[in-house]
Amino acid sequence: MRGIFITFEGIDGCGKTTQAVVLKKRLEAIGHKVIFAREPGGTKISEMIREILLSADNVEMDPVTESILLAASRSQLTKEIIMPALDEGKVVICDRYFDSTIAYQGYGRGLDITWLRELNRVATYELVPHLTFLIDLSVEKCRERMYGKKFDRLEQEDDIFLRKIREGYLSLSKEEIGRYIVVEGDKSIAKIEDIIWKETQKRLKEFY
Ligand SMILES: Nc1ncnc2c1ncn2[C@@H]1O[C@H](COP(=O)(O)OP(=O)(O)OP(=O)(O)O)[C@@H](O)[C@H]1O
Ligand SMILES: [Mg+2]
Repeated sequence: MRGIFITFEGIDGCGKTTQAVVLKKRLEAIGHKVIFAREPGGTKISEMIREILLSADNVEMDPVTESILLAASRSQLTKEIIMPALDEGKVVICDRYFDSTIAYQGYGRGLDITWLRELNRVATYELVPHLTFLIDLSVEKCRERMYGKKFDRLEQEDDIFLRKIREGYLSLSKEEIGRYIVVEGDKSIAKIEDIIWKETQKRLKEFY
C-alpha cells in the first residue's frame, strides 16, 4: 500500500470532524489526493448500517449486535473505499475507525476487549492506521460544544459512560505511542489545526 491512513478519535463533540475537514483541505492544497470518510458509514451499505445504529428508535439494541454492525460497516468501508485508495497512493482520513469500538463498546459498554480486537482485525483486513489523532477533552467541555444539537442513539449516553470512554482512549494511546498523537482539545481550533498539521507533515516526510 502506497498511501497514508490517518484517523481521528475522541469522545462526542471533542472536535474530530472540525479538524479532519481542515486537514483534508491542507493536504489537498499541497497536492495530495485525499479521501475522507466517516464512521459508521462511508459507502452505500455502510450508510444503511449507520441508519440502524443511530436510529433513536432502536433503544433495545444489544451491545454485541451494535459491535457487529459497526464492524460490518467498517469492513465494507475498508474493502470498498480505504484499501483501493491507499493502493492508489491517496491519503485516507477517517473520522473514527476501529479504536472507537475498543473505546465505546469495550471500555464504555464493558464488552470483552480481546473479542472486539479480533472482530476488528477481521473487519479491517488487518489494516491499521499509520497515524491516529486523539482529541482529548473533558466530558463537560464536550457537552458544552454539543449544546443544542439533536442527539442520535449513540450520543444519548450519560457522563459516566463518556468518562470511561475518555479514559479508555487515553489507555489505548499509551499502548501505541508510535501511532497515537494525543492533542489537548481545549486549545483553540486554529492552535489544534497547527499541531495536527505539524505532526502530519512529519509523518508524510517519513512515509513518502
Ligand atoms: N478547539 C475548539 N474550540 C472550540 N470549539 C470547537 C473546537 N473544536 C470544535 N469546536 C466546536 O465544537 C462543536 C463540535 O465539534 P465537532 O463536530 O468537530 O466534534 P466531533 O468530535 O466531530 O463530534 P461528534 O463526535 O458528535 O461527531 C462544533 O460546534 C465545533 O465548531
Ligand atoms: Mg463529528
